Amino acid sequence: MPLFPTDYQPDFSRRDPAPGVDEFFAQRWSPRAFRKVAIPAETLTAIIDAARWAPSCFNEQPWLIMTAATAEDFALYHSLLNEKNQPWAVNASVLGFMVARRHFAHNGKPNRWAAFDTGSAWMSLTLQARKFGLYTHGMGGIDFPEIYRQLAIPEETYEVICGFAIGVIDRPEVLPTEDLRDREFPSERHPLAEMWRIGYFRK
Ligand SMILES: Cc1cc2nc3c(=O)[nH]c(=O)nc-3n(C[C@H](O)[C@H](O)[C@H](O)COP(=O)(O)O)c2cc1C
Repeated sequence: MPLFPTDYQPDFSRRDPAPGVDEFFAQRWSPRAFRKVAIPAETLTAIIDAARWAPSCFNEQPWLIMTAATAEDFALYHSLLNEKNQPWAVNASVLGFMVARRHFAHNGKPNRWAAFDTGSAWMSLTLQARKFGLYTHGMGGIDFPEIYRQLAIPEETYEVICGFAIGVIDRPEVLPTEDLRDREFPSERHPLAEMWRIGYFRK
């Protein structure tokens, strides 16, 4: 019995992974329709811990993951999302922010790979969530100045990268607006040839 059962089957027919791509990758997507379900503490711990195993430049592990699962923390984090994300993200189980340490711990120099490494950590977290039958949704639409201020993040040391929601998927019909319902499907991708150069960028 899955931890978070659902009978909803998203339509992946717009997606065309090359033969051999594990469906785990092409069937990850970012829904907005969530059903409010509490995620057990050990499940959330495993999801966050998966991020710890991401690769990083000099193994600096520059990521910091902030999460809100209690009602009080959730309300605060929710207030830090922009007005387009608030209506759907309210039904997520957990809200969070990905933060990156700006400088290398080993020599104090700026770490130009910190955001890249933090993105790797987020993808690990996302894929571990999928293993539990949960979904994540990244959010760039967040109130950066207020996040630094209200969550007491020292801006000279840490950079807020993005927000995210973790939740249990629900049917598109539960979304509050037609615009959101119309966009609730696994999106397409550019053709492989657009993102792959063999040899030179241009001949
Ligand atoms: C860093 C980042 C920021 C994003 N910001 C938002 C956002 O503010 N609101 C939103 O609804 N979706 C947001 N998304 C979700 C993307 O739109 C989504 O990942 C993209 O369209 C690809 O779709 P898929 O994740 O369903 O495959 C964001 C995703 C990422 C990775």
